[in-house]
Amino acid sequence: MKRILVTGANGQLGTTLKQQSLGSEDQWVFCGREAIDITDSYSITSFLENQSFDFCINCAAYTHVEGAETEIDAARALNVEAVKNLVAACNEKQITLLHISTDYVFDGTKKTPYVETDPTAPLNQYGKSKLQGEQYIQQNAAAFYIIRTSWLYSKTLGANFYSVILNKAKKGDSLTVVNDQVGTPTDVAHLVEFLFNMIKKEPEYGLYHFSDEQIMTWYDLAVAIVKEHQLEVSVAPSTTASGGAVRPRYSPLFSNKKF
Ligand SMILES: NC(=O)c1ccc[n+]([C@@H]2O[C@H](COP(=O)([O-])OP(=O)(O)OC[C@H]3O[C@@H](n4cnc5c(N)ncnc54)[C@H](OP(=O)(O)O)[C@@H]3O)[C@@H](O)[C@H]2O)c1
Repeated sequence: MKRILVTGANGQLGTTLKQQSLGSEDQWVFCGREAIDITDSYSITSFLENQSFDFCINCAAYTHVEGAETEIDAARALNVEAVKNLVAACNEKQITLLHISTDYVFDGTKKTPYVETDPTAPLNQYGKSKLQGEQYIQQNAAAFYIIRTSWLYSKTLGANFYSVILNKAKKGDSLTVVNDQVGTPTDVAHLVEFLFNMIKKEPEYGLYHFSDEQIMTWYDLAVAIVKEHQLEVSVAPSTTASGGAVRPRYSPLFSNKKF
């Protein structure tokens, strides 16, 4: 039996981990910000005192891509400085850190899906902060997995692309969705299965990509959601508005490190 700590447990990924780990043979401990504030190193070390864990899955992050453009310090505090706190605590307590990163570390100029060995060049502050967090882990963590994923959505939780499109379509609202960003949408339930497999198999430490590996635009995804639910609403393609955070136009994630 393995002991697994989850930080940032009340977000999209943390909540899905909690749901899908019910009945697991392993021992899971879920901590939201109120139990462990990862920006506060004392909060982490005092929680870990007299406890041992095999893995820590960090689901906490500053994830608001637009907000990061103006709240640069807040994005750095969570995506870089707090990651340093986790690395120090995991090294001290001999815990393997699983940290989640993003396709937004790439600039989107490649013409084929990004794999782990491709050079990074983030376009926006969110991507820059996530990349700095990754780099710190790679240079300083004794035992780690960095899992880059892309375009996370949930079929069961509220307030994400899937639920927004579905709710609008059910109301009969016509939809307009951007058709000039290409990526690999990923059902968070599949990412959770990937993380379970990683904990079970313990492949070589390092950087891994995980997505659902179906290349499409946000428009294509919206059309697929409407079709899945057999709804009769029109979906129109649009182009990305100018201004705000610059997003990569092409950022599908594939992996050349299957295990
Ligand atoms: N969503 C995507 O499309 C996507 C795509 C690629 C990669 N990712 C990465 O996947 C990971 C999980 O994303 P997600 O969609 O699950 O994010 P999310 O729903 O925004 O959840 C992030 C969680 O972090 C928590 N948090 C914020 N500050 C904290 C602190 N100081 N201490 C502890 N917890 C704190 C938040 O708690 P509060 O609710 O209290 O603020 C929230 O529950 C992130 O690393 C993200 O960068 C996401």
